[in-house]
Amino acid sequence: MSEGGRPPGALRRATLDDRPAIAGLIAVSARGLGRGDYTDRQIESAIETGVFGVDTELILDGTYFVVEAEGRLVGCGGWSRRKTLFGGDRFARREAEELDPRSEPAKIRAFFVHPEWSRRGIGRRILERCESEARAHGFRSLEMMATLPGVRLYRALGYVEDERVQYEMDDGVRIEIVPMRKSLAEP
Ligand SMILES: CC(C)(COP(=O)(O)OP(=O)(O)OC[C@H]1O[C@@H](n2cnc3c(N)ncnc32)[C@H](O)[C@@H]1OP(=O)(O)O)[C@@H](O)C(=O)NCCC(=O)NCCS
Repeated sequence: MSEGGRPPGALRRATLDDRPAIAGLIAVSARGLGRGDYTDRQIESAIETGVFGVDTELILDGTYFVVEAEGRLVGCGGWSRRKTLFGGDRFARREAEELDPRSEPAKIRAFFVHPEWSRRGIGRRILERCESEARAHGFRSLEMMATLPGVRLYRALGYVEDERVQYEMDDGVRIEIVPMRKSLAEP
């Protein structure tokens, strides 16, 4: 946390021009912060198969955010009103259909913070922004498929875990991910 208690950096909506920088940040973040929970092979497979990757649809929807500090991207993450639960552009299993806010949870998607900027409140700040926007769109709950490093952030913000899933990526490598959910009560 920076002086004055505010997380560092400037939060803004991602643009299409950010895509290369977001892809770079995702890879650096996963390699730097994923090691305690996953093997190098699992991390490289997740990047390679697009399980960790940029989802252009979220950027076009205006529901993906980046945090910039010292002239570079240090955090990213978003929410979605569409059915796709995880995965970037290269990921085959995508469902662009829109959700019904009255009966279906919005999705929390692709949070990654630069290792040099972790534990300074950036993830929390992006997540709180996503929650307030999803609420403003009429959603009453949120869900996601969290990575193991992500679970710690989401748990701290009131998300509840379901049974862990062994997900098989397109190259046959398996990775443990965790369905999580939160009800959006009035703030
Ligand atoms: C998960 C991730 C986005 C968290 O980002 P972050 O900016 O470091 O998180 P914050 O600083 O906002 O943390 C908020 C709270 O979450 C919890 N938390 C976050 N990371 C934690 C960790 N490594 N260990 C324990 N608690 C953690 C803490 O309660 C923390 O509050 P505190 O620092 O005051 O104790 C980051 O670790 C990351 O990018 N990981 C690798 C990529 C990945 O797996 N992303 C998730 C995809 S679903």
